[in-house]
Amino acid sequence: MKFKYFILTFFIAIISCTQVNIQQPKELSISEGFKNSIGFYNAKPTFSWKLPVSEQIKSQFAYQILVASSKELLPDNADLWNSKKQKSTQSTFVKYQGKALKSRQKVYWQVRYWNQDEKASDWSETNSFELGLLNNSDWQAQWTGLDTAKDSIKGVRKFLMHRPQYLRKGFELASDVVSARLYITAKGVFDVHLNGKDVSDDVMTPGWTPYNHRIETLTYDATELLQVGKNVVAVELASGWHSGRISRGSALYENFASPKILCQLEVVLKDGSKQTIVSDESWRGTTNGPIRLASVYDGEVYDANFEIPNWNTAAFDDSNWKSVEVEAIAKNVKLAPKRHLTVKNQTVLKDVEIVSVKENSAIFNLKQNMVGVPKVKVPMKKGDTLKIRFSEMLLKDNTFYTKNYRSAKSTDYYIAAKDGVIEYTPKFTFHGFQFLELSGYDKNAKPDASWVQGIAQHSNFEKKGTFTSSHNKLNQLQSNIIWGLRDNFFDIPTDCPQRDERLGWTGDAQVIAPTSLFNYDVHAFWTAWLQSLRENQSEHKDGMVPFIVPDVLQTKSGSSGWGDAAVIIPWDIYNTTGDITVLEESYESAKKWVGYYQSKVKKQPYLPKMHSFADWLQPYPSKPGKLGNRGDTPKDLIHAAFFAHSAHLVSKIANTLGKTDDAKKYKDLYKAVANAFENEFFDENGKFKQERQTQTSYLLGIYFDLFKPETKLKAQKYLLEEIKNADYHLGTGFLGTPILPKVLDDMGEIDLMYKILFKETYPSWFYSINQGATTMWERWNSFSKADGYNPQPMNSLNHYAYGAIGQWMYERIAGLSSLAPGYQKIRIAPIPNAEFLTSASASVKTPYGKASSSWKIENDSFKLDVIIPPNTTALVSIPTTNSNDVEVNGVKISKNQIIDQKEDKLVIEVSAGTYNINSKFESKK
Ligand code: BGC
Repeated sequence: MKFKYFILTFFIAIISCTQVNIQQPKELSISEGFKNSIGFYNAKPTFSWKLPVSEQIKSQFAYQILVASSKELLPDNADLWNSKKQKSTQSTFVKYQGKALKSRQKVYWQVRYWNQDEKASDWSETNSFELGLLNNSDWQAQWTGLDTAKDSIKGVRKFLMHRPQYLRKGFELASDVVSARLYITAKGVFDVHLNGKDVSDDVMTPGWTPYNHRIETLTYDATELLQVGKNVVAVELASGWHSGRISRGSALYENFASPKILCQLEVVLKDGSKQTIVSDESWRGTTNGPIRLASVYDGEVYDANFEIPNWNTAAFDDSNWKSVEVEAIAKNVKLAPKRHLTVKNQTVLKDVEIVSVKENSAIFNLKQNMVGVPKVKVPMKKGDTLKIRFSEMLLKDNTFYTKNYRSAKSTDYYIAAKDGVIEYTPKFTFHGFQFLELSGYDKNAKPDASWVQGIAQHSNFEKKGTFTSSHNKLNQLQSNIIWGLRDNFFDIPTDCPQRDERLGWTGDAQVIAPTSLFNYDVHAFWTAWLQSLRENQSEHKDGMVPFIVPDVLQTKSGSSGWGDAAVIIPWDIYNTTGDITVLEESYESAKKWVGYYQSKVKKQPYLPKMHSFADWLQPYPSKPGKLGNRGDTPKDLIHAAFFAHSAHLVSKIANTLGKTDDAKKYKDLYKAVANAFENEFFDENGKFKQERQTQTSYLLGIYFDLFKPETKLKAQKYLLEEIKNADYHLGTGFLGTPILPKVLDDMGEIDLMYKILFKETYPSWFYSINQGATTMWERWNSFSKADGYNPQPMNSLNHYAYGAIGQWMYERIAGLSSLAPGYQKIRIAPIPNAEFLTSASASVKTPYGKASSSWKIENDSFKLDVIIPPNTTALVSIPTTNSNDVEVNGVKISKNQIIDQKEDKLVIEVSAGTYNINSKFESKK
């Protein structure tokens, strides 16, 4: 009996042991990080998941994905795709290979994995996505709106302005609603309501694309907003980018054509029938609503006397509104579901201070240069106009510095319809500001800080990384960098958010991309903009990439260092995310840009002659004023350097995509250009031939690997000399600055890089902080307490380019970087410098989970805490000369754990897990 019992328990134990499933995968997403989205843009998605953090789970041995057309079919009857068990460590961006998916289709999916011991996990939770309208032929709606061009209202510089429109359509539903989708977009910007309720909290939709190629569409779940009987769909519509002066009357957008909406509401009713309400000639509209004017650059005018109570509810009678005009959908403009997240309100700045109060006007300080709109709550008298002005900083006498807005009026007005406290937030504009001036409020009222709040807006990506250290100014620099990013990621990456520009400058974008990818989840944001870049590039047979995207300037020539965004950014995205799709999508475009350089080579082999903004805004240029903006590094040198670099990257991309012929061809091209570069611009001693030496000429040659090894060593010496001549200050503009830390790092000159980074005087990063900056500035000397503002009106106080140092702060100060695409292999290699810092730490949400590196110096010891996510490995570099006193998780390391040892560091390899590393700190002195 006893024996039988023993046998039984033995078998039960074996069975339960083999059946103990490990934890399910989590954080499922599709393509560039979308979760359970509706109106999804891509019928060929990729799938990603993360392994849970657990002692049992180091890596993935295999996976299986199931895709089905209904939830009930999972996991046993996946009718769209069963990947079967795939022996692979890949847990990110696995391509869908099932049945073709179509517009509106709702798709459910699950995944499981086997861990390193080949144990299967439970199935994940079921995730879903629903496709948007993928083809123009899915639309029955027509472009609809009033002809506002005929009013001929002229604004700044006589540009045509359109009165914002209020459009509506009532309809009846015969029975309860089972489901409803609202597909909508605009030539302009819109806000949509159903039965008086806001459909979403999106801002300035549909956003900005090259509208002559593609207009993005939004999909909203309208199920809960509809009812049996009478309903209404109501839309507010303004010029936005499409019909505003920011598009400069671009002939491409039909010369200030009146804004229009395209709207299609598809309803499935309980009785099984389907009803579709579309924008067409049956809609009614008026321009006699409260938003009188709205412009991206110039602000909004709101007149409460024009408010139309209940206009967006079903009960409203619109019989005295006008009938609308319609326009058919053009075949050559693609209507495509938005491929990245919309702009939304993100943070509300409430810590406001009153700076000064004069007769009936008051200045408020929001203590942070921000982008978005104000929320004002102000006592007013009927008929009075509240004027709201903005500025980034103040003049010495506490009045506004607005010269740098140039022609952008950036002013909002509110006209009161009655006595009392009004509340107002503009809808169809945005401003870049820290200070706000109110005038025209109730004279008897005493201004109060609570009158004003700042609503910061940006594209709705998540925070991805953190960086902090023991040094206040370095932390302020990190803060300025991330504010600069948020403020300038307003649907597209802009150069600046406040003046009459706010354009997608390609050079600025390529410079900041790596730092942005550390701090925010901007994968989809960048790939969406790259699509716009390719569309604008397609207008040029020679492969030219315009220097702004969307190209409302209708650029005639490309600029070296700017058009290279077509090559550099896809490569950066791939390396950060591991998503090969971006390389596939961008490959032809990248090759064409290199072809553009080739087409510009005339007399001298491999040396193009073209346009360049050069090392934009280098400090101490030899030419005065505006002429000095391009710095002293000759543009011919810059063309050749970027030509070689882009050819080199194309060769690397070709390799990654398995295109070996191209890989060789472009590598040869890079070598040939590099050779020409060295011969033309450097002498046999590795010295830049021009009399006026520049840091950037050396930096480009070294970082882009354009010198023979022996010349490189010599050039490095000259670079160091140049830096010394500048008394360890920066001598670089937009192009040189981001690569300075990489070059010095590579040369082992880390302490020198620290020295430059921690400089307090001009030109340096801390200089602007010492002058009160809360964002990155366009110029190293945009402002100084002693001399005031840079006299040039091109003087943005919110320009992210110089924030490119952020990458090095993550990678080397905190010591966290990706060694293999998408952080599948991680490098932890902090370089502490006790002269400036006693601690630093960074974390990043990698595609595999959170990774972090955090160090501090305590007495004589160096403590390094590391987190390595599942399914990755890491090389950890410990700065010590002596392996005897290194402990990992309390245990002394053994010699065979060390995979590399140099004089001042040793390297160990670790798998997923948490590590506390202790070593003796050796001061360099
Ligand atoms: C923009 C820049 C841009 C530059 C190129 C400026 O007006 O603000 O950031 O890269 O022009 O010339």
